[in-house]
Amino acid sequence: MKILFLNGSPNPDGATAAILSVIQGAAEEKGHICRCICLGEMDIHFCVGCKSCYETGTCCQQDDMDEIHAAMEEADVIVMGLPSYWGDMPGHAKTFIDRTTPYCDTNAGHSSFSDGKIGYAVAVRAGPTTRESDHLIASIEHFYGHLHIEMKGSAYLTLADTKEQVLARKEEVLAQCSEWF
Ligand SMILES: Cc1cc2nc3c(=O)[nH]c(=O)nc-3n(C[C@H](O)[C@H](O)[C@H](O)COP(=O)(O)O)c2cc1C
Repeated sequence: MKILFLNGSPNPDGATAAILSVIQGAAEEKGHICRCICLGEMDIHFCVGCKSCYETGTCCQQDDMDEIHAAMEEADVIVMGLPSYWGDMPGHAKTFIDRTTPYCDTNAGHSSFSDGKIGYAVAVRAGPTTRESDHLIASIEHFYGHLHIEMKGSAYLTLADTKEQVLARKEEVLAQCSEWF
């Protein structure tokens, strides 16, 4: 299978990148073809709210969103990871979701990804409780739902403020995603 990892942190070498790399490594060991995109490294402009995509299924702006959407179309499985920034997703990730509105099924003229895609959600945060992780995972599930990507599972780490802290808990991450691919 082709698996696309979407790192919703602006940091390409942080905790979210680390947890996704652990999962990607497990997927590659099983022979899957993987690609990871860090949203913070892409040129993604803010949605301007013009709503022209409601009718046209395309965005009036041109930047790296076309490349990301093409990668999503190519993938059989999408794994989106988010860190908690102020109890919510980072701005890069929210902008990416806003800019995926041309594919949102609530609008008459929406574009569509191919049927049959599977999604997984991953969350990391520095704090100790699961409430923020649950919120991040629910946001990803909501996003997938409007794109007809079937969410099949999730994983999270609390008390994970750095890449090193994540990598020290590799087995805990692998235990959560052992049935995914
Ligand atoms: C701007 C900012 C806001 C943050 N807000 C929270 C927060 O509200 N709750 C929390 O548990 N951790 C918070 N953190 C910590 C991050 O969730 C944590 O460091 C995470 O591992 C960062 O992942 P990253 O390195 O992939 O960006 C925040 C970090 C930053 C940079």
